[in-house]
Amino acid sequence: MTDKLKGRSAVVTGAGRGIRRAVALLLAEEGANVVVNDPGVNVDGTGHDAGPADQVRDEIRAASAEGGTATAGHAVANYDSVATAAGGEQLRLMTAPRRNLLELGIGVDDPEDLGRIAARLERLGVAVEREARALRVTEPVTGIKIVVEMAERIVQPAEPARAMNGPGRTERSNDRSPAATDATPARPRKLGHVVVGSRDALASRRFFVDGVGFSVSDEVPGVGVAFMRCSTDHHNLLVQPAPATFLHHTAWEVGDVDEIGRGASRLLREHPERHVWGLGRHGVGSNFFWYLRDPAGNFVEYYSDLDVIVDEEVWKVRASSGVETLAVWGPPLPTSFLMPEDLLG
Ligand SMILES: [Fe+2]
Repeated sequence: MTDKLKGRSAVVTGAGRGIRRAVALLLAEEGANVVVNDPGVNVDGTGHDAGPADQVRDEIRAASAEGGTATAGHAVANYDSVATAAGGEQLRLMTAPRRNLLELGIGVDDPEDLGRIAARLERLGVAVEREARALRVTEPVTGIKIVVEMAERIVQPAEPARAMNGPGRTERSNDRSPAATDATPARPRKLGHVVVGSRDALASRRFFVDGVGFSVSDEVPGVGVAFMRCSTDHHNLLVQPAPATFLHHTAWEVGDVDEIGRGASRLLREHPERHVWGLGRHGVGSNFFWYLRDPAGNFVEYYSDLDVIVDEEVWKVRASSGVETLAVWGPPLPTSFLMPEDLLG
């Protein structure tokens, strides 16, 4: 055992078996504290078994004890599922000196897409690394690594909406709303968008729109903000002007406004300090939102009912201005939302 990673912590998902088990063992061998995560499901996602995670945790503890370094406790088991219903790779946590978005993955259909993107980026004077099924490029202002890769399209399964009553409109009669008793924990369906700060938001916008090929859905020209999409969602990426590069928030789609409320309330019961801003409804993108803070200081948004753009001809880009366009209703905007405290120092 070496202690190259002493004092570092790693969460290894799916670490109960196969290559991720080997990764967990190796990290522990180098001195890291390891959370061995594995829900122990079958290949089709059914079932639940604590056995695989427990076994790897015990292996690490046994190896630590043999190494004579009294490091038992450097591994814990965790059985929660980190999968999202929509599938695909969503989020990977990495150790870094500052909180930041290090890498952004974007899926494309075919080699022609890769060729077009590479040509456009090269016209912008950005160096592109080509591989057979992917290209890698670094956004020059923020330093975020962009990996554009051929991938299967993710088809999000349709979910039935809950029956809601309204004035003169009865979708549910002689029955209580299931939402009134539902205590199911919120479960995000997918990572829908990320928002990052850039020292030169206009240059970053040029990179993503003119280079990578994102479309602009709406913009706040006065402050150089563009809501950009690479799917039918109103936005998948927003770059905002900031004195430093940082990850402002990740946004996770849930079923409806009730699920946003359930998810946020559950977290705030034990961690009221995690509250940032919500519940509200955005003026741009139209979605319900509630922002919470993760342990590193990044914001995390639960959202639902975002605008969807399937016809570029019908959708009209709107230029908004002023802070009031951020929310049509909601609590007063905290100043820390626009300028997180840890960036001021
Ligand atoms: Fe958002």
